Amino acid sequence: MTTRTRILTGITTTGTPHLGNYAGAIRPAILASQDANADSFYFLADYHALIKCDDPQRIQRSRMEIAATWLAGGLDVNRVTFYRQSDIPEIPELTWLLTCVAAKGLLNRAHAYKASVDKNVEAGEDPDAGISMGLYSYPVLMAADILMFNAHKVPVGRDQIQHVEMARDIGQRFNHLFGNGKEFFTMPEALIEESVATLPGLDGRKMSKSYDNTIPLFTSAKDMKDAISRIVTDSRAPGEAKDPDNSHLFTLYQAFASKAQEEEFRADLLQGLGWGEAKNRLFQLLDGQLGEARERYHQLMSRPSDMEDLLLIGAKKARAVAAPFLAELREAVGLRSFVNQAAAPVAAKKKAAKAARFVSFREDDGSFRFRLLAADGEQLLLSRNFADGKAAGAVTKQLQSGDALDVRTEALGFSVWLDGVVVADSAEFADEASRDAAIEALRVALTPLED
Ligand code: TRP
Repeated sequence: MTTRTRILTGITTTGTPHLGNYAGAIRPAILASQDANADSFYFLADYHALIKCDDPQRIQRSRMEIAATWLAGGLDVNRVTFYRQSDIPEIPELTWLLTCVAAKGLLNRAHAYKASVDKNVEAGEDPDAGISMGLYSYPVLMAADILMFNAHKVPVGRDQIQHVEMARDIGQRFNHLFGNGKEFFTMPEALIEESVATLPGLDGRKMSKSYDNTIPLFTSAKDMKDAISRIVTDSRAPGEAKDPDNSHLFTLYQAFASKAQEEEFRADLLQGLGWGEAKNRLFQLLDGQLGEARERYHQLMSRPSDMEDLLLIGAKKARAVAAPFLAELREAVGLRSFVNQAAAPVAAKKKAAKAARFVSFREDDGSFRFRLLAADGEQLLLSRNFADGKAAGAVTKQLQSGDALDVRTEALGFSVWLDGVVVADSAEFADEASRDAAIEALRVALTPLED
């Protein structure tokens, strides 16, 4: 029994992680995964990436960079389940089951889709111009990600809250339609880390690739230094008092500093520390904290097969959860084996027949024969004579092989044929009905049991 909280989140693999991603999502997720009560599932949402990006090179590079970033950042793959979405074939399969219960009207209301439609309308285009079914169905794929593993908590940015709500909606509908009182899916909750700073970028707006104002994370010390040198500050000269509370450089420093470091930096700025020196101090702080991870990152990137191995192990762990669960869901919607299905009553018979057995014996003339006895000891068949035990054994073996039985009736009895010769006979029955019942019992007795 596990009472651990299952935390699950996906990272869309279209870009290179920057300092803002690290402070806002990666670092908190890695910390959260260290909690003994957390059962974390973190994955590369590379199917989602295909919705936004049709550049194979970029998809591939981003998958590797993001995997290396999380690993270098200290993610412990023995503790968490870390995998690529596209290594889990159960995800697209569940996506389809959910697509069939998701209301189109619900998806019409998805923010990302609506924003694209609005943009088209504004531009005087067809409302759905350039909108793929992937974009439209994005929330269903995400619902499958979440519901597949029955996640309790889903750490996401604010823009993703609606998607988690849709996952609840779709999951609930599935539960209602197919659960028969059973709740297949856990209702997930979006987890918004209020305390996590959204880092400002070089220009003071939120750090984001779309603003082109990011500080690179692990590319190189020089890149980081160059970016820091471009942080926009006011024009106060060295020696003039600075205002830390209105400086995004200070906010960036704060996000990585201890309380003591922060206070010292604040005091120095108030006393007129020059911006050039302040940038230098920020670089020293970041480099001190991230330098080792940067080295690990480059090591990982230079040995992609190590990462491949780790991710395949992760996929195996994830599939050990997903595959049996999906099998249950397939059953629930009616995608069932014909065999198990038709056999519900037959299966019971098969069990009873399990005790049917062959008994061999030797005649006085040295020939070998066998009887097939039903569970209750009644004789179903008596074989003809065989020259040796091996020949008799071969016949019993073939009768149990599951191949179609060649049964031929003769008056009130029947015989069993193999390769054109009679190998065994039944007794004589009182009437045709009992003869036919015996033939049926024989077939059941000789149907191999599935293991
Ligand atoms: N859509 C999310 C994003 O862009 C990524 C994502 C995909 C995800 N599947 C998920 C997040 C499941 C949480 C849970 O940020």
